Amino acid sequence: MTETPPFTALADDTAYAEAVQLAVDSAAAYYADGTSTIDDDAYDRLVRGIQAYEEEHPESVLPSSPTGKVAGGAVVGDVPHTVPMLSLDNVFGAEQLADWAAGVERRLGRPVTAWSVEPKLDGLAISARYRHGRLAQLVTRGDGSAGEDVSHAIGTIVGLPERLADAVTVELRGEVMMTASQFEQACAKRQAHDGTTFANPRSAAAGTLRAQDRPYVCELTFFGYGALPAPGDTSDLAVGLREWPHSKIMEWVAAQGVQTTAATPVAGIVATTLDEAQSRIGEIAAARAELPFGIDGIVIKCDLAADQAEAGFSSRAPRWAVAYKLPATEKITKLLDVTWNTGRTGVIAPRAVLEPVELDGSIVTYATLHNVADITRRGLMLGDSVTVYKAGDVIPRVEAPVVHLRTGDERPIPIPEVCPSCGDAIDSSQERWRCVRGRGCRAIASITYAVGRDTLDIEGLAENRIKQLLDTGLIADFGDLFFLTREQLLGLERMGETSTDNLLAAIEQAKTRPLSRVFAALGVRGTGRSMSRRIARHFATMDAVRAADAEAIQQVDGIGPEKAPVVVEELIELAPLIDKLVRAGVNMVEPGATPPSEEPEAPAEGLPLASMSVVVTGAMTGPLAALTRNEVNELIERAGGKSSSSVSAKTSLLVAGEKAGSKRAKAETLGVPIVSPEEFAEQVAAFIPAPSL
Ligand code: IVH
Repeated sequence: MTETPPFTALADDTAYAEAVQLAVDSAAAYYADGTSTIDDDAYDRLVRGIQAYEEEHPESVLPSSPTGKVAGGAVVGDVPHTVPMLSLDNVFGAEQLADWAAGVERRLGRPVTAWSVEPKLDGLAISARYRHGRLAQLVTRGDGSAGEDVSHAIGTIVGLPERLADAVTVELRGEVMMTASQFEQACAKRQAHDGTTFANPRSAAAGTLRAQDRPYVCELTFFGYGALPAPGDTSDLAVGLREWPHSKIMEWVAAQGVQTTAATPVAGIVATTLDEAQSRIGEIAAARAELPFGIDGIVIKCDLAADQAEAGFSSRAPRWAVAYKLPATEKITKLLDVTWNTGRTGVIAPRAVLEPVELDGSIVTYATLHNVADITRRGLMLGDSVTVYKAGDVIPRVEAPVVHLRTGDERPIPIPEVCPSCGDAIDSSQERWRCVRGRGCRAIASITYAVGRDTLDIEGLAENRIKQLLDTGLIADFGDLFFLTREQLLGLERMGETSTDNLLAAIEQAKTRPLSRVFAALGVRGTGRSMSRRIARHFATMDAVRAADAEAIQQVDGIGPEKAPVVVEELIELAPLIDKLVRAGVNMVEPGATPPSEEPEAPAEGLPLASMSVVVTGAMTGPLAALTRNEVNELIERAGGKSSSSVSAKTSLLVAGEKAGSKRAKAETLGVPIVSPEEFAEQVAAFIPAPSL
């Protein structure tokens, strides 16, 4: 699958010393906050180059050399580990894996009984110490023999419960990381705070785990991959943890309520032959690009305790386990150009044009560059070599310039002086630059969004018609649509009597849409369709939404302290448009919802999906085939349920259509009931909208 990467050849002692210094600095930065300016591949090549040089010139070996040290010798901590937290040796490809396995079997003098094959999670190793079932202490890997106490993070890590199912004393080991959505949220929080973002999920997790006094809290995720008894413990459990196969230990860990990869599409398996292991490696590698969290390889372990004990350890890594590395998700490439685009809400965003580079199975040519302040802070220049990150769901992003690769030919990045879309001035008073026309700048895009099928659903209003209405000055925003007269429309080119009457009828019809859709049509920054539904259900009327301050807005599920003030600000900016809609007689009420000031939200008793959390995945068939995903979610909410996009232990029902993938697998593992679209349609038949003509 992967070729062995070549190494950096070092010419002499000076080049060797420079390489050692670079490796030490990079490792220190990587383990401190993940800001290393060389990518993993380059680091591996560098260390292999150092190793090769040291083999040829043993007299020149520097004591600071990273070779043979856990974490490149970068980190120290003051909490000793009961059992060292080791590294893993790497293999790159099937052949090297077979060589490694043959080595293990030579040492055992017999075949390995069974292999455990599981993903190598791309985060940070952590030891979670439980006393009598309570999470008592969290310690990082550090240098392998002692780590740093990061217990302050307890309570912010999904999958690492504060209490286990049993009141046992045990040490769990696993990986702390950020999922793609946690990473997006963390970047948004940091953007709102100081205009910068995190380079990639791994460094975001590293920084977050160690951060003690940040004014914002970012959520992390834990996946367990091992459990150890306390030294000297002779309880049945302790004996079990020493004697059970790895696969059984992992089942026990999951039964304690701790997250393992068992509930993911890349669950660990036990293989009895190396061929079987190899085919699972292929499956995990293939699933990688779709995963909502990063993996950087596959770990192959001897499953049986007896095999592990006989294989033993080297000073740095176990001999009974190995990491099969997958291609890097971070690489160095050239920043060729930066283009600027004004979005629907008027925000001006820079985009990097890159020398194409393959990352996580796809060719990356464009990447996000966040905002101007970020470019300036990083000191990015055109022609720079930059580290670029792309994995799974995460949008490709430029991390940082690689300053030591500069040639002197780099040029400053031209920063626009006027809006790249309309040429008007730029409001640069905030980190996020905006066109002074705001939404007006991209009127066609915002009106098209407002009248779309999942918002006001005005049929017959295509983009070219919207452009025509804007060009002729008949409208400036979508509120003006409701004041159009028959005469005005008939006066337009390519507009006959029938299309005019149809359009007027469609516009009239749009006045009756529920508040959730009217709110979504406004295109409030940071609120999409599902958030608009939550806001509408929570407040019930537009008046109540407009009367809410940031604190009241924050009561809506999913709106945090960063988003709430933005929503308030946006509603003030949108006031003239909202007033116009009110004057036109557009509905401003959410059917079936009660404003928070009145009765406490009555549970939707009597409705078929009362107090159920429902997830929909795959293609809908039968009576639901004609509905958009947004319409199915609306249907769930009308029937008293809550629609959600991800399966968890709290999910009550999964509606799985054709080609349902990882969500179905997860629901099966968690024992969440699964129904087909047809079965679901029967359950909620009374709530399905009649097909429009
Ligand atoms: S087993 C002594 N299993 O990889 C055995 N490690 O390069 C080492 N890692 O420090 C741990 N996923 O942070 C193991 N499924 C997995 C893993 C895993 C990620 C990390 C772990 C370890 C590093 C070694």
